[in-house]
Amino acid sequence: MKFFLDTANVDEIKRIDDLGLVDGVTTNPTLISREGRDFEEVIKDICSFVKGPVSAEVIGLTSEEMVKEARIISKWADNIVVKIPMTEEGLKAIKILSQEGIKTNCTLIFSVAQGLLAMKAGATYISPFIGRIDDLGKSGIELVEDLRYIIDMYNFKSEIIAASVRTLAHVEESAKAGAHIATIPGTLFPKLWNHALTDKGINDFLSDWEKYKKSMK
Ligand code: G3P
Repeated sequence: MKFFLDTANVDEIKRIDDLGLVDGVTTNPTLISREGRDFEEVIKDICSFVKGPVSAEVIGLTSEEMVKEARIISKWADNIVVKIPMTEEGLKAIKILSQEGIKTNCTLIFSVAQGLLAMKAGATYISPFIGRIDDLGKSGIELVEDLRYIIDMYNFKSEIIAASVRTLAHVEESAKAGAHIATIPGTLFPKLWNHALTDKGINDFLSDWEKYKKSMK
């Protein structure tokens, strides 16, 4: 299973990248807006050191606008994936872009039907928003499970990116449900390695070691 970072913050990406844990990056207009930097500049900056796929989203709402933007964005670096929203126009754009060999990430997926259509249109990645599905009182993880089942049954090539990941449980459950990738906010990442009992264990070992050293004098 791969880990992408769901952020446009270069310092955050570098911190996790130093641990060898960044397989790719996803951004969206909200994440870009938080950085107060030029869109193209941020994406090129991220692509300059991240080796895996980096998703950058289009703003246009018609397929013509999306395709036009995608053709420009895809030239910014070799590892760009163009994020396209799940709409009728988005599906049309994904079909054209996939025929042109431009990688796409179909975003804002909330149902099995939407995921299935994105796969059929040729999306490289499909992004179910599991946190936002949970917000509706439904199970985002169940959607991931269903989409993985369909991919395996029909041999679709699309990979699932579990998105809108907000908790440690979301990451663990996404892995168990068969998400190929979880895209994780930088702020959530430390929760993956931290554990209160690990900290307690280290403190206990150190204090026992001090006692042992004193007893050996
Ligand atoms: O991966 C999509 C993400 O950035 C949206 O997260 O928490 O706003 O639903 P959230």
